[in-house]
Amino acid sequence: MHPRTTSDVLVIGGGIIGLVTAWRAAQRGLRAAVADPEPGGGAARVAAGMLAAVTELHYGEETLLGLNLASARRYPEFVAELQEAAGGMDVGYRACGTLAVALDADDRAHLRELHALQRRSGLDSEWLTGRECRRLEPMLAPGVRGGLRVDGDHQVDPRRLAAALVAACERAGVVFHRAWGERLSVVRDRAAGAVLADGTELAAGQVVLAAGSLSGRLGGVPEEVLPPVRPVKGQVLRLSVPPAYAPFLSRTVRAVVRGSHVYLVPRENGELVVGATSEELGWDTTVTAGGVYELLRDAHELVPGITELPLTETRAGLRPGSPDNAPLLGPTSLPGLHLATGHYRNGVLLTPVTGDVMAEVLVTGELPDEARAFAPARFAPLATVDRTSPSVSSVSSVSVGVS
Ligand code: GLY
Repeated sequence: MHPRTTSDVLVIGGGIIGLVTAWRAAQRGLRAAVADPEPGGGAARVAAGMLAAVTELHYGEETLLGLNLASARRYPEFVAELQEAAGGMDVGYRACGTLAVALDADDRAHLRELHALQRRSGLDSEWLTGRECRRLEPMLAPGVRGGLRVDGDHQVDPRRLAAALVAACERAGVVFHRAWGERLSVVRDRAAGAVLADGTELAAGQVVLAAGSLSGRLGGVPEEVLPPVRPVKGQVLRLSVPPAYAPFLSRTVRAVVRGSHVYLVPRENGELVVGATSEELGWDTTVTAGGVYELLRDAHELVPGITELPLTETRAGLRPGSPDNAPLLGPTSLPGLHLATGHYRNGVLLTPVTGDVMAEVLVTGELPDEARAFAPARFAPLATVDRTSPSVSSVSSVSVGVS
Protein backbone atom coordinates (compact mmCIF):
# COMPACT_ATOMS: atom_id res chain seq x y z
CA MET A 1 0.00 0.00 0.00
CA HIS A 2 1.44 3.36 -1.01
CA PRO A 3 1.49 6.21 1.47
CA ARG A 4 -1.32 8.71 1.24
CA THR A 5 -0.11 12.30 1.28
CA THR A 6 -2.21 15.42 1.52
CA SER A 7 -1.99 18.90 0.01
CA ASP A 8 -4.35 21.84 -0.30
CA VAL A 9 -3.97 21.82 -4.10
CA LEU A 10 -2.91 18.98 -6.37
CA VAL A 11 -2.02 20.06 -9.91
CA ILE A 12 -2.18 17.30 -12.53
CA GLY A 13 0.39 18.27 -15.17
CA GLY A 14 3.74 19.99 -14.69
CA GLY A 15 4.01 22.00 -17.90
CA ILE A 16 4.33 25.76 -17.60
CA ILE A 17 0.60 26.21 -16.88
CA GLY A 18 0.58 23.62 -14.08
CA LEU A 19 3.82 24.95 -12.65
CA VAL A 20 2.75 28.58 -12.58
CA THR A 21 -0.50 27.54 -10.91
CA ALA A 22 1.36 25.61 -8.21
CA TRP A 23 3.94 28.35 -7.70
CA ARG A 24 1.36 31.13 -7.35
CA ALA A 25 -0.80 28.96 -5.08
CA ALA A 26 2.19 28.23 -2.84
CA GLN A 27 3.01 31.93 -2.69
CA ARG A 28 -0.53 32.51 -1.41
CA GLY A 29 0.04 30.07 1.45
CA LEU A 30 -1.48 26.89 0.03
CA ARG A 31 0.33 23.56 0.29
CA ALA A 32 0.70 22.68 -3.39
CA ALA A 33 1.75 19.49 -5.16
CA VAL A 34 2.34 18.71 -8.84
CA ALA A 35 1.98 15.29 -10.49
CA ASP A 36 4.07 14.88 -13.65
CA PRO A 37 6.77 12.38 -14.63
CA GLU A 38 8.86 15.18 -16.11
CA PRO A 39 8.04 18.61 -14.65
CA GLY A 40 8.94 21.41 -17.04
CA GLY A 41 8.48 19.19 -20.11
CA GLY A 42 5.56 19.32 -22.51
CA ALA A 43 4.89 22.66 -24.15
CA ALA A 44 8.13 24.20 -23.05
CA ARG A 45 10.22 21.65 -24.96
CA VAL A 46 8.74 22.63 -28.31
CA ALA A 47 7.31 26.15 -28.19
CA ALA A 48 9.03 29.14 -29.77
CA GLY A 49 7.88 31.45 -26.98
CA MET A 50 6.41 34.30 -29.00
CA LEU A 51 4.37 36.71 -26.90
CA ALA A 52 2.27 37.63 -29.90
CA ALA A 53 -0.97 39.15 -28.63
CA VAL A 54 -1.09 41.63 -31.53
CA THR A 55 0.41 39.73 -34.48
CA GLU A 56 -1.60 36.56 -33.72
CA LEU A 57 -4.91 38.42 -33.43
CA HIS A 58 -7.76 36.64 -35.21
CA TYR A 59 -11.30 37.67 -36.13
CA GLY A 60 -13.81 36.66 -33.49
CA GLU A 61 -11.18 36.40 -30.75
CA GLU A 62 -11.56 39.86 -29.24
CA THR A 63 -12.39 38.46 -25.78
CA LEU A 64 -9.26 36.35 -25.84
CA LEU A 65 -7.31 39.43 -26.97
CA GLY A 66 -8.17 41.13 -23.66
CA LEU A 67 -6.71 38.23 -21.67
CA ASN A 68 -3.67 38.00 -23.97
CA LEU A 69 -2.95 41.72 -23.55
CA ALA A 70 -3.43 41.52 -19.79
CA SER A 71 -0.85 38.73 -19.66
CA ALA A 72 1.57 40.50 -22.04
CA ARG A 73 1.46 43.60 -19.83
CA ARG A 74 2.37 41.48 -16.80
CA TYR A 75 5.36 39.82 -18.46
CA PRO A 76 8.21 42.18 -17.44
CA GLU A 77 7.22 42.14 -13.76
CA PHE A 78 6.43 38.42 -13.86
CA VAL A 79 9.85 37.64 -15.32
CA ALA A 80 11.66 39.79 -12.75
CA GLU A 81 9.79 38.13 -9.88
CA LEU A 82 10.24 34.62 -11.28
CA GLN A 83 13.95 35.04 -11.96
CA GLU A 84 14.49 36.20 -8.40
CA ALA A 85 12.33 33.41 -6.97
CA ALA A 86 14.33 30.89 -9.04
CA GLY A 87 17.63 32.05 -7.57
CA GLY A 88 18.66 34.25 -10.48
CA MET A 89 17.88 31.94 -13.43
CA ASP A 90 17.44 33.86 -16.69
CA VAL A 91 14.31 33.02 -18.71
CA GLY A 92 15.47 34.71 -21.92
CA TYR A 93 12.78 37.38 -22.02
CA ARG A 94 13.54 39.69 -24.92
CA ALA A 95 11.56 42.88 -25.62
CA CYS A 96 12.52 42.77 -29.27
CA GLY A 97 9.23 43.39 -31.10
CA THR A 98 7.91 41.59 -34.20
CA LEU A 99 7.79 42.26 -37.92
CA ALA A 100 5.00 40.51 -39.87
CA VAL A 101 5.73 40.64 -43.59
CA ALA A 102 4.04 39.86 -46.90
CA LEU A 103 5.67 38.20 -49.90
CA ASP A 104 2.95 38.50 -52.54
CA ALA A 105 -0.28 40.35 -53.26
CA ASP A 106 -2.43 37.80 -51.40
CA ASP A 107 -0.19 37.95 -48.31
CA ARG A 108 -0.27 41.72 -48.45
CA ALA A 109 -4.07 41.79 -48.62
CA HIS A 110 -4.19 39.42 -45.64
CA LEU A 111 -1.80 41.64 -43.70
CA ARG A 112 -3.77 44.80 -44.59
CA GLU A 113 -6.88 43.15 -43.14
CA LEU A 114 -4.98 42.20 -39.99
CA HIS A 115 -3.74 45.77 -39.72
CA ALA A 116 -7.30 47.12 -39.99
CA LEU A 117 -8.46 44.71 -37.28
CA GLN A 118 -5.55 45.70 -35.06
CA ARG A 119 -6.35 49.38 -35.46
CA ARG A 120 -10.05 48.83 -34.76
CA SER A 121 -8.95 47.01 -31.60
CA GLY A 122 -6.81 49.98 -30.54
CA LEU A 123 -3.51 48.12 -30.92
CA ASP A 124 -0.12 49.58 -31.83
CA SER A 125 0.91 48.39 -35.28
CA GLU A 126 2.61 50.33 -38.07
CA TRP A 127 2.43 49.58 -41.82
CA LEU A 128 5.86 49.56 -43.52
CA THR A 129 6.87 49.35 -47.16
CA GLY A 130 9.08 46.47 -48.29
CA ARG A 131 12.07 48.78 -48.32
CA GLU A 132 11.35 49.93 -44.75
CA CYS A 133 11.06 46.28 -43.66
CA ARG A 134 14.46 45.47 -45.18
CA ARG A 135 15.99 48.52 -43.55
CA LEU A 136 14.93 47.07 -40.19
CA GLU A 137 15.92 43.51 -41.08
CA PRO A 138 18.52 43.43 -43.88
CA MET A 139 18.38 39.61 -44.18
CA LEU A 140 14.80 39.76 -45.51
CA ALA A 141 14.24 38.67 -49.10
CA PRO A 142 14.21 41.42 -51.76
CA GLY A 143 10.67 40.30 -52.67
CA VAL A 144 9.10 41.34 -49.33
CA ARG A 145 6.27 43.70 -50.32
CA GLY A 146 5.36 45.28 -47.03
CA GLY A 147 4.86 44.49 -43.40
CA LEU A 148 3.55 45.37 -39.98
CA ARG A 149 5.91 46.58 -37.31
CA VAL A 150 4.59 45.60 -33.88
CA ASP A 151 6.95 46.79 -31.20
CA GLY A 152 4.91 45.27 -28.35
CA ASP A 153 5.07 41.56 -29.34
CA HIS A 154 8.10 40.08 -27.58
CA GLN A 155 9.55 36.64 -26.78
CA VAL A 156 10.70 34.44 -23.93
CA ASP A 157 12.59 31.13 -23.99
CA PRO A 158 9.98 28.56 -22.89
CA ARG A 159 12.55 25.93 -21.87
CA ARG A 160 14.23 28.37 -19.55
CA LEU A 161 10.86 29.64 -18.37
CA ALA A 162 9.86 26.08 -17.45
CA ALA A 163 13.17 25.41 -15.69
CA ALA A 164 12.80 28.62 -13.68
CA LEU A 165 9.23 27.70 -12.73
CA VAL A 166 10.39 24.28 -11.50
CA ALA A 167 13.09 25.97 -9.39
CA ALA A 168 10.66 28.61 -8.07
CA CYS A 169 8.16 25.88 -7.16
CA GLU A 170 10.82 23.89 -5.32
CA ARG A 171 11.95 26.96 -3.40
CA ALA A 172 8.32 27.77 -2.53
CA GLY A 173 7.82 24.29 -1.10
CA VAL A 174 5.76 22.74 -3.90
CA VAL A 175 5.97 18.93 -3.71
CA PHE A 176 6.65 17.07 -6.97
CA HIS A 177 5.28 13.57 -7.61
CA ARG A 178 7.05 12.19 -10.66
CA ALA A 179 4.22 10.14 -12.17
CA TRP A 180 1.14 10.88 -14.27
CA GLY A 181 -2.26 11.34 -12.76
CA GLU A 182 -4.13 8.15 -13.62
CA ARG A 183 -7.49 8.71 -11.96
CA LEU A 184 -9.28 11.50 -10.16
CA SER A 185 -10.50 10.55 -6.69
CA VAL A 186 -14.06 11.65 -6.03
CA VAL A 187 -15.38 11.41 -2.49
CA ARG A 188 -18.97 12.37 -1.70
CA ASP A 189 -19.39 14.13 -5.04
CA ARG A 190 -16.26 16.20 -4.58
CA ALA A 191 -12.77 15.97 -6.14
CA ALA A 192 -10.54 14.78 -3.34
CA GLY A 193 -7.18 13.93 -4.92
CA ALA A 194 -5.84 11.49 -7.47
CA VAL A 195 -4.27 8.09 -7.92
CA LEU A 196 -1.04 8.26 -9.90
CA ALA A 197 0.21 5.82 -12.52
CA ASP A 198 2.72 4.41 -10.01
CA GLY A 199 -0.09 3.65 -7.57
CA THR A 200 0.53 6.59 -5.23
CA GLU A 201 -2.67 7.92 -3.71
CA LEU A 202 -2.74 11.66 -3.13
CA ALA A 203 -5.39 13.49 -1.17
CA ALA A 204 -6.04 17.16 -1.84
CA GLY A 205 -8.52 19.84 -0.90
CA GLN A 206 -8.68 20.97 -4.53
CA VAL A 207 -7.44 19.48 -7.79
CA VAL A 208 -6.35 21.43 -10.88
CA LEU A 209 -6.31 19.61 -14.19
CA ALA A 210 -3.53 21.27 -16.23
CA ALA A 211 -2.32 18.50 -18.52
CA GLY A 212 -2.42 20.35 -21.85
CA SER A 213 -3.94 18.38 -24.70
CA LEU A 214 -4.12 15.33 -22.41
CA SER A 215 -6.45 17.06 -19.97
CA GLY A 216 -9.48 15.25 -21.34
CA ARG A 217 -7.91 11.86 -20.60
CA LEU A 218 -7.80 11.74 -16.79
CA GLY A 219 -9.78 8.77 -15.54
CA GLY A 220 -12.56 9.22 -13.03
CA VAL A 221 -13.61 12.66 -14.25
CA PRO A 222 -17.36 12.77 -14.92
CA GLU A 223 -18.09 12.97 -18.65
CA GLU A 224 -19.82 16.36 -18.40
CA VAL A 225 -16.78 17.88 -16.69
CA LEU A 226 -14.04 16.57 -19.03
CA PRO A 227 -12.50 19.53 -20.87
CA PRO A 228 -13.14 19.53 -24.64
CA VAL A 229 -9.48 19.90 -25.58
CA ARG A 230 -7.89 18.27 -28.61
CA PRO A 231 -4.28 17.94 -29.76
CA VAL A 232 -3.16 20.23 -32.60
CA LYS A 233 0.27 19.17 -33.82
CA GLY A 234 3.00 21.72 -34.39
CA GLN A 235 6.40 20.92 -35.87
CA VAL A 236 9.18 23.31 -34.91
CA LEU A 237 12.82 23.61 -35.99
CA ARG A 238 15.82 25.00 -34.17
CA LEU A 239 18.85 26.39 -35.97
CA SER A 240 21.87 28.21 -34.64
CA VAL A 241 23.37 31.44 -35.86
CA PRO A 242 27.19 31.26 -35.86
CA PRO A 243 28.85 34.43 -34.50
CA ALA A 244 30.07 35.31 -38.01
CA TYR A 245 26.41 35.65 -39.17
CA ALA A 246 25.19 37.69 -36.18
CA PRO A 247 23.05 39.68 -35.93
CA PHE A 248 21.01 37.53 -38.30
CA LEU A 249 17.62 38.92 -37.26
CA SER A 250 17.05 41.46 -34.51
CA ARG A 251 13.35 40.72 -33.86
CA THR A 252 10.77 38.01 -34.53
CA VAL A 253 9.90 37.86 -38.22
CA ARG A 254 6.72 36.15 -39.36
CA ALA A 255 4.50 35.78 -42.40
CA VAL A 256 1.62 33.87 -43.87
CA VAL A 257 3.07 32.07 -46.90
CA ARG A 258 0.48 30.40 -49.17
CA GLY A 259 -1.90 30.24 -46.22
CA SER A 260 0.59 28.75 -43.73
CA HIS A 261 2.02 30.64 -40.78
CA VAL A 262 5.79 30.70 -40.50
CA TYR A 263 7.79 32.55 -37.87
CA LEU A 264 11.48 32.99 -37.08
CA VAL A 265 12.31 33.78 -33.47
CA PRO A 266 15.92 34.85 -32.85
CA ARG A 267 17.27 34.35 -29.33
CA GLU A 268 20.07 36.37 -27.81
CA ASN A 269 22.13 33.17 -27.39
CA GLY A 270 22.19 32.56 -31.15
CA GLU A 271 19.35 30.05 -31.33
CA LEU A 272 16.85 30.65 -34.14
CA VAL A 273 13.48 28.93 -33.75
CA VAL A 274 11.39 28.35 -36.88
CA GLY A 275 7.76 27.30 -36.53
CA ALA A 276 5.23 25.95 -36.91
CA THR A 277 2.99 23.55 -38.72
CA SER A 278 -0.61 23.22 -37.55
CA GLU A 279 -1.96 19.72 -38.09
CA GLU A 280 -5.09 17.96 -36.82
CA LEU A 281 -3.61 14.46 -36.64
CA GLY A 282 -4.65 13.27 -33.20
CA TRP A 283 -1.81 12.18 -30.95
CA ASP A 284 0.83 11.89 -33.64
CA THR A 285 4.09 13.70 -32.80
CA THR A 286 6.19 12.44 -35.70
CA VAL A 287 8.53 14.96 -37.26
CA THR A 288 7.95 14.53 -40.98
CA ALA A 289 10.11 15.32 -43.99
CA GLY A 290 7.15 17.25 -45.40
CA GLY A 291 6.75 19.35 -42.28
CA VAL A 292 10.45 20.21 -42.12
CA TYR A 293 10.50 20.90 -45.86
CA GLU A 294 7.54 23.27 -45.73
CA LEU A 295 8.90 25.22 -42.79
CA LEU A 296 12.33 25.57 -44.38
CA ARG A 297 10.85 26.41 -47.78
CA ASP A 298 8.65 29.17 -46.35
CA ALA A 299 11.37 30.48 -44.02
CA HIS A 300 13.80 30.51 -46.95
CA GLU A 301 11.40 32.60 -49.00
CA LEU A 302 11.36 35.16 -46.21
CA VAL A 303 15.03 35.03 -45.25
CA PRO A 304 17.09 33.27 -47.96
CA GLY A 305 20.26 33.18 -45.82
CA ILE A 306 18.62 30.67 -43.48
CA THR A 307 19.89 27.75 -45.57
CA GLU A 308 23.45 28.58 -44.47
CA LEU A 309 22.66 27.94 -40.80
CA PRO A 310 23.19 24.65 -38.94
CA LEU A 311 19.91 22.84 -38.27
CA THR A 312 20.22 21.67 -34.67
CA GLU A 313 16.85 20.23 -33.71
CA THR A 314 13.45 19.20 -35.02
CA ARG A 315 10.48 18.50 -32.75
CA ALA A 316 6.73 18.19 -32.75
CA GLY A 317 4.35 19.00 -29.91
CA LEU A 318 0.64 19.13 -29.32
CA ARG A 319 -1.19 22.37 -28.71
CA PRO A 320 -4.21 21.95 -26.42
CA GLY A 321 -6.90 23.28 -28.75
CA SER A 322 -10.32 24.23 -27.41
CA PRO A 323 -13.53 24.83 -29.37
CA ASP A 324 -13.09 28.64 -29.24
CA ASN A 325 -9.25 28.67 -29.16
CA ALA A 326 -9.35 30.13 -25.65
CA PRO A 327 -8.35 28.55 -22.34
CA LEU A 328 -10.61 26.95 -19.75
CA LEU A 329 -9.84 28.47 -16.36
CA GLY A 330 -11.34 27.85 -12.94
CA PRO A 331 -13.97 25.70 -11.29
CA THR A 332 -15.93 22.93 -12.95
CA SER A 333 -19.36 21.71 -11.94
CA LEU A 334 -17.62 19.03 -9.84
CA PRO A 335 -16.81 20.76 -6.53
CA GLY A 336 -13.07 20.84 -5.85
CA LEU A 337 -12.04 20.28 -9.49
CA HIS A 338 -10.60 23.19 -11.51
CA LEU A 339 -9.29 23.41 -15.04
CA ALA A 340 -6.28 25.32 -16.38
CA THR A 341 -6.02 24.03 -19.93
CA GLY A 342 -6.97 24.66 -23.57
CA HIS A 343 -4.45 27.49 -24.03
CA TYR A 344 -3.94 26.42 -27.67
CA ARG A 345 -1.54 28.86 -29.41
CA ASN A 346 -1.08 31.11 -26.38
CA GLY A 347 0.21 28.98 -23.51
CA VAL A 348 3.47 30.84 -23.03
CA LEU A 349 1.86 34.25 -23.42
CA LEU A 350 -0.93 33.39 -20.96
CA THR A 351 1.33 31.93 -18.27
CA PRO A 352 1.46 35.04 -16.01
CA VAL A 353 -2.27 35.75 -16.05
CA THR A 354 -3.12 32.06 -15.66
CA GLY A 355 -1.00 31.86 -12.51
CA ASP A 356 -2.70 34.91 -11.03
CA VAL A 357 -6.21 33.81 -11.95
CA MET A 358 -5.78 30.25 -10.70
CA ALA A 359 -4.20 31.31 -7.40
CA GLU A 360 -7.05 33.76 -6.82
CA VAL A 361 -9.77 31.21 -7.46
CA LEU A 362 -8.00 28.54 -5.39
CA VAL A 363 -7.61 30.89 -2.41
CA THR A 364 -10.91 32.78 -2.55
CA GLY A 365 -13.22 30.51 -4.54
CA GLU A 366 -13.96 33.46 -6.84
CA LEU A 367 -12.85 33.62 -10.47
CA PRO A 368 -11.48 37.15 -11.10
CA ASP A 369 -13.48 39.31 -13.50
CA GLU A 370 -10.79 39.13 -16.20
CA ALA A 371 -11.23 35.34 -16.37
CA ARG A 372 -15.03 35.06 -16.17
CA ALA A 373 -15.36 34.65 -19.95
CA PHE A 374 -13.03 31.65 -19.78
CA ALA A 375 -14.91 29.61 -17.20
CA PRO A 376 -15.27 25.93 -18.22
CA ALA A 377 -19.04 26.20 -17.85
CA ARG A 378 -19.24 27.87 -21.29
CA PHE A 379 -18.76 24.41 -22.82
CA ALA A 380 -20.95 22.46 -20.42
CA PRO A 381 -23.36 21.13 -23.07
CA LEU A 382 -20.47 20.34 -25.47
CA ALA A 383 -18.00 18.76 -23.07
CA THR A 384 -17.33 15.47 -24.80
CA VAL A 385 -14.02 14.01 -25.98
CA ASP A 386 -12.87 11.19 -28.23
CA ARG A 387 -12.75 8.17 -25.90
CA THR A 388 -10.65 6.17 -28.38
CA SER A 389 -7.52 8.32 -27.90
CA PRO A 390 -4.86 7.31 -25.38
CA SER A 391 -5.03 7.90 -21.64
CA VAL A 392 -2.84 10.47 -19.90
CA SER A 393 -0.63 7.74 -18.47
CA SER A 394 -0.17 5.83 -21.73
CA VAL A 395 1.22 8.79 -23.69
CA SER A 396 3.30 10.32 -20.95
CA SER A 397 6.30 10.80 -23.24
CA VAL A 398 4.41 12.98 -25.70
CA SER A 399 5.07 16.70 -25.64
CA VAL A 400 1.84 18.40 -24.74
CA GLY A 401 1.86 21.80 -26.31
CA VAL A 402 3.27 24.48 -28.50
CA SER A 403 3.02 28.17 -27.79
N1 GLY B 1 1.71 30.60 -31.12
C1 GLY B 1 2.49 29.93 -32.06
C2 GLY B 1 2.01 28.60 -32.43
O1 GLY B 1 1.08 28.09 -31.81
O2 GLY B 1 2.55 28.03 -33.34
